[in-house]
Amino acid sequence: MCSIIGYYGNEIAAPILVKGLKRMEYRGYDSVGVATESENQIELKKGTGKVSEVNSKVQLDTLPGKVGIGHTRWATHGKVTDANAHPHPSNSGKIAIVHNGIIENFEELKSQLENEGYSFKSETDSEIIANLLQKNYEQTNDVKETILKTVSQIKGHYAFVAMFEDGQLAAARFHEPLIIGVGQDDFFLSSDVLGFIEYTDDAIYMENGTFVLLDKNKFQIFNFEGEHIGYGITKVSKEFGDAYKGDYAHFTLKEIYEQPETILKAGEKTFDAIENTADYIRHAKNIYITGSGTSYNSALIAKQILSKYVKIKAEPIMSSELQFNPETIEENSILIAISQSGESADVLEAIKIAKKANCKIIGIVNLLTSSLAREADVVIGLNCGPEIGVAATKSFTAQLVILYKIVQRLSNNEITINFDEFSESVSKTLDNPSNIKEIGKELKDISDIYILGRGINYPIATESALKLKELTYIHAEGIPGGELKHGPLALMDSNVFVIILNPNDSTYSDTLTSAREIKARGAKIIGVSDVKSDVYDYWIEIPKVSEVLYPISEIVPIQLLTYYAALEKNTDPDYPRNLAKSVTVK
Ligand code: F6R
Repeated sequence: MCSIIGYYGNEIAAPILVKGLKRMEYRGYDSVGVATESENQIELKKGTGKVSEVNSKVQLDTLPGKVGIGHTRWATHGKVTDANAHPHPSNSGKIAIVHNGIIENFEELKSQLENEGYSFKSETDSEIIANLLQKNYEQTNDVKETILKTVSQIKGHYAFVAMFEDGQLAAARFHEPLIIGVGQDDFFLSSDVLGFIEYTDDAIYMENGTFVLLDKNKFQIFNFEGEHIGYGITKVSKEFGDAYKGDYAHFTLKEIYEQPETILKAGEKTFDAIENTADYIRHAKNIYITGSGTSYNSALIAKQILSKYVKIKAEPIMSSELQFNPETIEENSILIAISQSGESADVLEAIKIAKKANCKIIGIVNLLTSSLAREADVVIGLNCGPEIGVAATKSFTAQLVILYKIVQRLSNNEITINFDEFSESVSKTLDNPSNIKEIGKELKDISDIYILGRGINYPIATESALKLKELTYIHAEGIPGGELKHGPLALMDSNVFVIILNPNDSTYSDTLTSAREIKARGAKIIGVSDVKSDVYDYWIEIPKVSEVLYPISEIVPIQLLTYYAALEKNTDPDYPRNLAKSVTVK
């Protein structure tokens, strides 16, 4: 996944583009580039690395001109090299493009263009867009006709912005996000409102299968049939502008520390949506819950709390697996789709499959302008503000709070949860990080960590493993406690650390026994519990809370532990290698 940006206005474009790219870096951060138009000439600079690194190397922000495009890349086709970084110029140098998505028929188009004499400097699928535009523009001499012809030739999913040497901009959207920012005297084209929120909060969310032409302070939007279409301007919430680290060293740390507040805000003002969801659940033939990564771990917890507290059966389905098993979905059921971004391609594919089977879709999602929010019959907002750190932290706990609220509603409020009290207990954990910091130091040279939990604590074990992999690159694995003796015990020796999730719930004594068995093999034990035990080499104390809340109580200190371990290992906690915040490709 990548971020694209375009600017047309009265200011010098390059510094504005660089700033916008920095704010969208969470979308992809292995290379970056900017191209601008000045006096009917396109100038371009790019390189590998983060925005600030490349900018200090090649001074992207010194390019001249009041029109420009920019890009941060997350490599899909071709390695991380300067040549593969965007923007890509066409052979004539008269057009440059930035692209997010995948062109599925690029090999076929590339060899056609090569036969016609075009050459390619990169290994990317994106570069064919630049040359196809050049070819079509040379034939039509009209930007609108050029875009129409080009979008009819490329297959896949994409958002691209093209800049012509006379300073015209054109941008097309097909299954990848593209937003127009409408300022006083200038316009922005961007993958995310974060790209322009400092300058304007008026946004046009472009429909799928449309393109925009931008020239001399006016813009027109067309569909892929060439028909002129209208648009609505959305006032974007100013809270998106909060996407700054403030006094925190990293976004991830800031987002971990926001949780006492986001726990309280999760699902706020969505009483009707929660009520509707409870109603759908009560009357559904089957209930499926889907998500990817962290959001799938929430689905696993949802299954357990629905059965334990309200005796309702639900089936969690990993979104990426459903396409290989679509018959799992029975007609007229409901699919609860959980996603921070609302743009994960696998989740959207799962929704497509469920809709085909005539299922209703409930979306639990942070970005209310996302594709998931638009596809869902009922939408419940996480309301946790922008999450920039690539690893999900506050969005996970907000998802759990919403799931608890749904269960509460289904129990006709017989299950009561005091979220105010709970939020305070999370604050207490976060207020005393020194013990967790010290334990983080111990993980510096470790190559394997296992996390063991039973029952509802098992999904937290898999979520903890996911966090450790992402942030520290340590091999980490969640183990269901009862399975220890069926294999994983063979791995235990003095080289490994095991985190034992052991709250004082119904799993407590069995899990303590597992901890003793592991310790007897020489492994070091980190106990996460509200009860101290001599079996733990290190103890992370969690507050005594009602049983349903233990998962959140456990994951918050583990997020913090992982963050501090990442600092020890000198990895970048906000931008783990090879990953991107929302995975819009399958
Ligand atoms: C883990 C993480 C990913 C996401 C996954 C789904 O820390 O961030 O595993 O949870 O890519 O993303 P969303 O929730 O945006 O669909």
